[in-house]
Amino acid sequence: MFSLTLSGFGIAGILIKSLEQLQCCPDESRSMHNKRTYKESQSMPSFSERLMSVNLDVILRKLRNKGVLPKPSAEKLLDRIPKILVSEIVSKPTIRVVGTYSYVDGYLPWCDILALLSVLVDRSPRTILEVGTFNGYTTRLMALNLPDAEIHTIDLPEDFKDTDAGLQKDDFHLIAGRRVGSEYRADPSIKCIQQHFGDTAEYVFPVAEFCFIDGSHTYSR
Ligand SMILES: C[S@@+](CC[C@H](N)C(=O)[O-])C[C@H]1O[C@@H](n2cnc3c(N)ncnc32)[C@H](O)[C@@H]1O
Repeated sequence: MFSLTLSGFGIAGILIKSLEQLQCCPDESRSMHNKRTYKESQSMPSFSERLMSVNLDVILRKLRNKGVLPKPSAEKLLDRIPKILVSEIVSKPTIRVVGTYSYVDGYLPWCDILALLSVLVDRSPRTILEVGTFNGYTTRLMALNLPDAEIHTIDLPEDFKDTDAGLQKDDFHLIAGRRVGSEYRADPSIKCIQQHFGDTAEYVFPVAEFCFIDGSHTYSR
């Protein structure tokens, strides 16, 4: 398997080289929209570099899964997610917050709630899926800001026990102390939330335009 992967990589390398020659050579006869300017070709990774990095990623992942290479830590995996400012992706949304907030272990920090609501109000998705309801504090605020949306939220069954089969769970202290959805259930104005119960390692999710993943903080590759 190891040598197959490597020889596959060699063939891919040759293919990529030929493809790159086709893509990047400065040929005046090609149409304008296919050409990259000199400045672009200096700043952008080449076609082969992009393809190579995809292939390398697949190979490295296989080697890690086989135990040949060590797996990257959770911090390293998180570092791969690009960091952007909320202001880069939304204009000036007006968000609604009704009630008080005090941080409870398991809740989203206030700044994260504001960032999430800003994006939601700006994009106004018709369907939302939240993974990890917990007490439903964030779920309620999402519903308050998008009352016409269909909001699906999922958490483990209320009688879930540590001993249940499936993925290793890192959230045991939260699982034990949660009152699933109690925050939004206590607000009679909230009508657009559908609560689901299941283990997201196995559950078939409802399709949604916007997904907020905040459950099962177990990193596995
Ligand atoms: C950090 S809390 C969610 C907080 C909530 N989104 C909020 O903003 O207030 C994580 C939740 O994920 C749930 N959870 C953990 N593993 C899960 C799994 N495999 N499937 C579904 N829910 C899970 C836990 O029971 C817990 O309620």
